Amino acid sequence: MVKAIEWFKDRVIMLDQSRLPAEVTYIECCDYHTVAEGIKKLWIRGAPAIGIAAAMGIALGARDIETEDFEEFMAKLEPVCNLLLSTRPTAVNIQWAVDRLKGLLADKGGLPVVQLKEMLIEESKRILEEDREVNRAIGRYGAGLIKDGDAILTHCNAGALATGGYGTATAPMFIAQEQGKRIQVFADETRPILQGARLTAWELMQEGIPVTLITDNSAGSLMKKGLVDLVIVGTDRTVRNGDVANKIGTYPLAVLAKEHGIPFYVAAPTSSIDLSISTGDEIPIEERDPSEVTHIFGKVTANGRESFWGSIRIAPEGVAVRNMAFDVTPHRYVTAIITEKGVFKPGDVRHIMDRL
Ligand code: MRU
Repeated sequence: MVKAIEWFKDRVIMLDQSRLPAEVTYIECCDYHTVAEGIKKLWIRGAPAIGIAAAMGIALGARDIETEDFEEFMAKLEPVCNLLLSTRPTAVNIQWAVDRLKGLLADKGGLPVVQLKEMLIEESKRILEEDREVNRAIGRYGAGLIKDGDAILTHCNAGALATGGYGTATAPMFIAQEQGKRIQVFADETRPILQGARLTAWELMQEGIPVTLITDNSAGSLMKKGLVDLVIVGTDRTVRNGDVANKIGTYPLAVLAKEHGIPFYVAAPTSSIDLSISTGDEIPIEERDPSEVTHIFGKVTANGRESFWGSIRIAPEGVAVRNMAFDVTPHRYVTAIITEKGVFKPGDVRHIMDRL
């Protein structure tokens, strides 16, 4: 299975997802600034994966702090965490990673700083390993909702590339296939950045799962024809009342699914659950550069370097643009939330911490 991120010899190695599937290129991040740049520029994306990247970025930043004094070390770690937190606001996983690493250090004032640095590196590697296990557990619970012969619709990429491995929305598909169920997947192309076309289609094809790529506006027609049995998507932040933020275009899919009586499932690792927020209205929604909408992916050569990102203009110069990267699906459209702890009605997600 494809790996989005790894810690290797004091460096963070990221698969550059902004160039997939045209090029499989890896970027070596030697410092936390490069990790932050990678999150912002979508070399790495997907809520759990950017949480892992943030943890590794903190470990890199901590490694480079020059002091033996605990208080000074903690003070110098603050801007490192803040830079990583500033990269992308919607996924709660970055905050989750920051809280986990800071929590690890909270009562360790008596230990030498060099040991704390080592602990942060080990913890960030552990977060990656744990995420793989979490995904497998989501896959086992989610596969129980998939029948032999089912057609599953998904949006964006909540696959191995968005996580430590297996994905969240894709894990039930992988496990269902391992169980011998014959499934097929419809992947929304997912404008503007085309994570469905570039990433989900690519990943599923590599794993031998039959996948059909559709334009974002096809879902209604497919559902009306009875060609979709269930929808599974990921989430960047699921809140106390069960509302979920995910890639823009998820909300209309959920409304369509309800209209057609099709179950709509959200795969949510507990690292994406934010019980500090009551409803989806409070989730910060990232707005990205207008050029993602006015331009499309294409391959051009400029200054001797091939570029794949937003290189072909499709809209008139100067047009007004809104580029909201995520939307919020109200909990009443969500059939159930698949977590590593089990499958919950959205209103019951707040009880999940009791099971941790
Ligand atoms: O902008 P992206 O590509 O980071 O958006 C990703 C998504 O919306 C995913 O569905 C979500 O992060 C869940 S990933 C398991």
